[in-house]
Amino acid sequence: MAKVPPIPSSEITSERDYENRPRPGVPPPEDPDEDRAEVDRGRRVFVRNVTLAAVGAGVFGAGLFAWSKRRGGAPAPSLSSLAPLSASPSARELAAVALGDDDALTSLERVTTYNNFYEFGLDKADPARNAGTLKPRPWTVRVGGEVAEPKTWDLDELLKEFPLEDRTYRMRCVEAWSMVIPWLGFPLAKLLARSNPTSRAKYVAFKTLHDPKQMPGQSDDVLPWPYVEGLRIDEAMHPLAILAAGLYGRELPHQNGAPLRLVVPWKYGFKGIKSIVAIDLVESQPPTTWNKAAPREYGFFANVNPNVDHPRWSQATERRLGASPERRRTLMFNGYSEQVGSLYADLDLERFF
Ligand code: MTE
Repeated sequence: MAKVPPIPSSEITSERDYENRPRPGVPPPEDPDEDRAEVDRGRRVFVRNVTLAAVGAGVFGAGLFAWSKRRGGAPAPSLSSLAPLSASPSARELAAVALGDDDALTSLERVTTYNNFYEFGLDKADPARNAGTLKPRPWTVRVGGEVAEPKTWDLDELLKEFPLEDRTYRMRCVEAWSMVIPWLGFPLAKLLARSNPTSRAKYVAFKTLHDPKQMPGQSDDVLPWPYVEGLRIDEAMHPLAILAAGLYGRELPHQNGAPLRLVVPWKYGFKGIKSIVAIDLVESQPPTTWNKAAPREYGFFANVNPNVDHPRWSQATERRLGASPERRRTLMFNGYSEQVGSLYADLDLERFF
């Protein structure tokens, strides 16, 4: 076996750095050992985020860690209660695209209990604990904007119309951890093509459900709700970009974005907007939630790039959760360069991060 050279410590994000990442409404912990510039930077982010929270509803984002107690969230349904889903036997060619021998699947347990879904709390365990209030049926997804044929799809009609495919992808979070997840989904391109985009459609804008009764975290202004995301049209039409309706052979667990979420494997995980209700084709670049919350830290493109660090931590390596060895080098475009590199041939990736 080839000997893997050791990873220099400058390329490793410490647990402390990503645990202390700026989170809207949550003050960064004071650490006397941190150098001054870092603390100042953290404060600026914090002030901006608190301002954001305060402008919304006059709520100072304190006590967020008691969120689930206050809001009385209900546990997400057990995994065994989720309906089985299977992929169509045709269209198998992208099932395991660009996966390496060291890309073993992350366990179902980990995939469904270590989540980011701020509508249900800020801690990784919160979505599984609280997302029981989400009602994924009945559900509709409206496709509109710059299209000749706008349509509101019932979810089950959508799933009948577009056969599901197996797609096992690496997922690299901007917080420098990663997983390998076997999704069931269909190419976003198929749905967009069906609505017949006009020549003015240059971008695609996505929106999550906005309903604080179903998503109690939306009662706290920790982020501007609803969560929104966007892609350039050529990115959205790329065959690797999918709308996922399931994982591990079952319908999507609530905490993973039931009933339908975006998966764009060459981008940081925050582009994978969950529980989508609207998809609009638009002429100019749409706003995105994390870019609105902290523009210096989260760009519109959010392509996985080991050469462009986050302002507070290195992106050169990642922790592959549950794998051994856990620490590994981050790959350009998350290992999908061959498939998507040409989309960015003319883009300055440092400027458009
Ligand atoms: N979508 C919504 N609506 N709300 C969120 O908080 N978090 C994003 C993304 N989609 C988020 C979201 C982030 S930061 C990540 S890393 C992924 O979802 C996590 O997906 P997973 O929990 O299925 O692993």
